[in-house]
Amino acid sequence: MEDRERFESALRATGREGVENVLAELARLGFFEAPASTRFHLAEKGGLLRHSLNVYDQARVLTQVECRLRPGLEERLPEASVAVASLLHDICKAEIYREEVKHRKVNGKWEDYTGYGFDCSAFPLGHGEKSVIRLLRWGMPLTDDEMVAIRWHMHAWDLADSPEARGCFGSASERCPLLAILIAADGLASHIQEAK
Ligand SMILES: [Fe+2]
Ligand SMILES: [Fe+2]
Repeated sequence: MEDRERFESALRATGREGVENVLAELARLGFFEAPASTRFHLAEKGGLLRHSLNVYDQARVLTQVECRLRPGLEERLPEASVAVASLLHDICKAEIYREEVKHRKVNGKWEDYTGYGFDCSAFPLGHGEKSVIRLLRWGMPLTDDEMVAIRWHMHAWDLADSPEARGCFGSASERCPLLAILIAADGLASHIQEAK
């Protein structure tokens, strides 16, 4: 199954209100063609879609294992929440990357190549919070755990230097098992599965 088809069917399988509108908005913004980063993991066409599926696969495996190790956890980790949080955590990146000509030295000689730069000025709302706001605006209701997990999935990388932000992140980490799953899945996908 093609990546896009798999992404769409996994999202539709959640039965969540607003899925069709979310898919239409993602297509409009270029999500399905976007890279996952400028030069780190999956900096290529379709990379963001692939990364979202990788995080989804990692999150499902981790959820199964954790639920076996910690009986009762299933209630906090419904399948639909795991799918929504993992597939949609990075939709904030849908439109921020632009193809641009870059330069690199190969065998002592400079050459041009097409790479990616980024520009978040069109809708400068941050990272996880931008994904949450977009989904709500596009008509997809989210549970508290889904919002908290998506908002804080960047872990300390997205931690403003304020006591309130650190306090929120601390509480989120303690109270939201979906956040722990999403952070671990994102890290495993980016640093192991997608490593160059
Ligand atoms: Fe992210
Ligand atoms: Fe990610």
